[in-house]
Amino acid sequence: MTRPDKHDFDSLTGNSWSVHGGNHADETTGAIRTPIVMANSYRLPQDPSDIDEPGYQGLVYTREHGANQRGLEEKLAKLDHGEAAAVFGTGMAALHGAFFTILNPGDHAIVSNVVYMRVAGLFTDVFPQKLGIEVDFVDITDLDQVRAAVRQNTKLVHTEVIANPDLRVADIPALAGIAHEADALLTVDSTFTPPPMMRPLDHGADLVIHSLTKYYNGHGDAMGGVVIGNRDLVEQTRTGAMWHAGGAISPFNAWLIMRGSTTLPLRLERQCQNALAVAEFLAADPRVVHVAYPGLPGDDQHQAAIEQLTNGFGGVVSFAIGGTHHDRLRFVNDLRVITSAVSLGHDETLIAYEEYPEGPANAFAQPFRDHGLIRLAMGLEAKEDLIADLETSLTTALGPAT
Ligand SMILES: Cc1ncc(COP(=O)(O)O)c(C=O)c1O
Repeated sequence: MTRPDKHDFDSLTGNSWSVHGGNHADETTGAIRTPIVMANSYRLPQDPSDIDEPGYQGLVYTREHGANQRGLEEKLAKLDHGEAAAVFGTGMAALHGAFFTILNPGDHAIVSNVVYMRVAGLFTDVFPQKLGIEVDFVDITDLDQVRAAVRQNTKLVHTEVIANPDLRVADIPALAGIAHEADALLTVDSTFTPPPMMRPLDHGADLVIHSLTKYYNGHGDAMGGVVIGNRDLVEQTRTGAMWHAGGAISPFNAWLIMRGSTTLPLRLERQCQNALAVAEFLAADPRVVHVAYPGLPGDDQHQAAIEQLTNGFGGVVSFAIGGTHHDRLRFVNDLRVITSAVSLGHDETLIAYEEYPEGPANAFAQPFRDHGLIRLAMGLEAKEDLIADLETSLTTALGPAT
């Protein structure tokens, strides 16, 4: 029996689409998986002027479309309920591509005052100087503050669903309402909340962006990013920010992310379970000064999380411990199962401790200012091993819990 073509899978649920979406059996060899196509160009049609026709479907040049990119885009668009997707070489290339598409010189952007630091950098150090973009950083969970920031030239509202690193939760439908009333667009970085946890387009976002480097790839060995939304906006992003500015993903990385993403729902389930168990352990430990995890019923972000998230509250827990800076470094470096490294969504659990300076996008709660912020990004290990590792290291650094 031959394997059915992907068109037979159109009615699948998201979790099954994670397995089958975008995969095309190879006509030449009969391989049931799309091979890695390490070519930077493809045979032209007999009349190359055809490639300039709107809607031309052939592959031409890998900066613009490649076989592995295209399959991945097909999978990701449908998983997030978008019409189209454009994959990029990194999450930052995708985010930059979305902003670059929406903003023109003189426009105003409203950006969450807690966002991934390189996004903050784009809006403090790059866009204002290079494009004359005006920016206000606001507490995205305070809707009055967001409304008050709207100006006549506001064209963009940008937020993360769960913010990196303090895990505040944005109200996406309310933000979409404010943006659209102002004739602006809402871009949502959903890196911490991939499907099936959250689909921001269903809640009114105009574009959703993921760093594919994180949960989608899931194995810590490739980088990528994606912009998903309606076809027109995604195609503008593809042509403006990828064809002209470059930033394409390599076929090998697209293939790795395609392979990693087949297990995304299963991995997320485990990571969310681990996160909840670890957050509960930390919240009960007197050596821990503060825990942020939207899955904890006592967390001030819990209500916003249960209203929007399904299948868990994410795989990242942020916390602060007592002691000195030196004690906290010792805690992190003495861990034996958990690795001190940046990034998240990997198969192994990663931890990163940082003391953040004051900054427009570092508006964290007071305990994180006083004690630094430890971001723990769950992997797939057994939760008992993670908790035992944390307990041992807390004791080495700070003494036994009393
Ligand atoms: C929320 C978020 N968005 C975007 C990025 C950037 O993604 P990449 O590292 O793939 O460029 C990161 C990276 O840590 C992130 O945490």
